[in-house]
Amino acid sequence: MRPADLIRYKEKGRTIAMLTAWDSLSAAWVESAGADAVLVGDSLAMVALGHATTLPVTLEQMLLHTQAVERGFRAMPSQQPLLICDLPFLSYQCGEDLAVAAAGRLLKESSAAAVKLEGGEPEVIAVIDRLVRMGIPVMGHLGLTPQAVHRFGYRRQAQDRASQDRLLKQADQLEQAGCFALVLEHVPADLAKEMCRNLTIPVIGIGAGEWCDGQVRVTADLLGLTQQQPPFSPSLLPGRQLFVSALQDWIQQCRPAAPTTEEAPQEHDC
Ligand code: KIV
Repeated sequence: MRPADLIRYKEKGRTIAMLTAWDSLSAAWVESAGADAVLVGDSLAMVALGHATTLPVTLEQMLLHTQAVERGFRAMPSQQPLLICDLPFLSYQCGEDLAVAAAGRLLKESSAAAVKLEGGEPEVIAVIDRLVRMGIPVMGHLGLTPQAVHRFGYRRQAQDRASQDRLLKQADQLEQAGCFALVLEHVPADLAKEMCRNLTIPVIGIGAGEWCDGQVRVTADLLGLTQQQPPFSPSLLPGRQLFVSALQDWIQQCRPAAPTTEEAPQEHDC
């Protein structure tokens, strides 16, 4: 899969399925399940590294986990899902040169074929424009942008018409700057529908309703493995409970049964 294939999917009306992966095991699951695209999201900071937000994850860690994900794929390279890696916080906010160096490193040292970054402010648009011109495919990310948690929190975005119009304009600018797709997180479904209609590139939603050109989920949330389930991304199964109870069963089985009082060794007086 190549970035441009996602645009062709939209043209053909085929819904795009994108899932996250953070290591070789999860990569094998999502590839076997048939995901069109696999995102090594900076959500790995919370899912795999135990952080409270996505902010602490470093470029080095994103690279390490992307390399682990690519090792988990089993299909021939041409048959593999499109591999996309998030640019972590502060790898693109400090200027275009640093952003090119960070994104270039991810593409050079892993088989990721694209990067994703958050926001639609003029500075971000300028970074995207530069990355695209340097030959680095970019996926945008609007709506709830977890790297801006200290500014906007995790609440639903674009609730009034003025902020909806702002988001539609930013989406248009992302397309003009050369993004091949964008993630739209936790916004009203009607807004997502309007954005999908306006754009040629696919809008891949999470908590953005059913009319998006594609859907993306954090795989650990979908499988019920995470501690804090986002309200807009319900789990398909109680993964944590299933795993814990299977492990409890194993622990019970591997412990020899406690001796009954009759079998208990006699205490001898010395
Ligand atoms: O980091 C991530 O996993 C993401 C998804 C929510 C799309 O950006």
